[in-house]
Amino acid sequence: MAIQLSQKEKMLLQDQQRHEEVCIDKYRTYAQKAQDPQLKQLFNSYAQQEQQHYNTLEQILQGQTPSIQGQQQQQIPGQNLQGSNNPNDAGLCNDMLMTEKYVSGTYDTVIFECQQNSVRQALNHIQKEEQEHGEGIFNYMKNSGMYQPQ
Ligand SMILES: [Fe+2]
Ligand SMILES: [Fe+2]
Repeated sequence: MAIQLSQKEKMLLQDQQRHEEVCIDKYRTYAQKAQDPQLKQLFNSYAQQEQQHYNTLEQILQGQTPSIQGQQQQQIPGQNLQGSNNPNDAGLCNDMLMTEKYVSGTYDTVIFECQQNSVRQALNHIQKEEQEHGEGIFNYMKNSGMYQPQ
């Protein structure tokens, strides 16, 4: 059964797709710019998840019931990652942390506008992953001495 979306839902979902495109682009570019190989790998794996988010939004916009992609997170994101306190890598991390915080917030707006439970579930799942991306970067920065919570 095709999902019926309101004009408002469509517009908000399209906005989220643009955000996901920016995330895919940034993570790919920053994976190349990062000096620490572990950070490169982290950014590349997040780029892949952002692509899945994009694809899920596309499914919803095509009127299909979204399939929730991605496996359950078993361990704390970024828990065991440690780089060196390198200003170049710290700058990339700060930028992505700010981006994830923004994108996670914008999902709230869409979720509260959804008529279908299946769409809400799928967007909740994406939002949770954005917060896990933030957590992974936060932990990487903390372990690398780039950020000291006071
Ligand atoms: Fe995303
Ligand atoms: Fe993300």
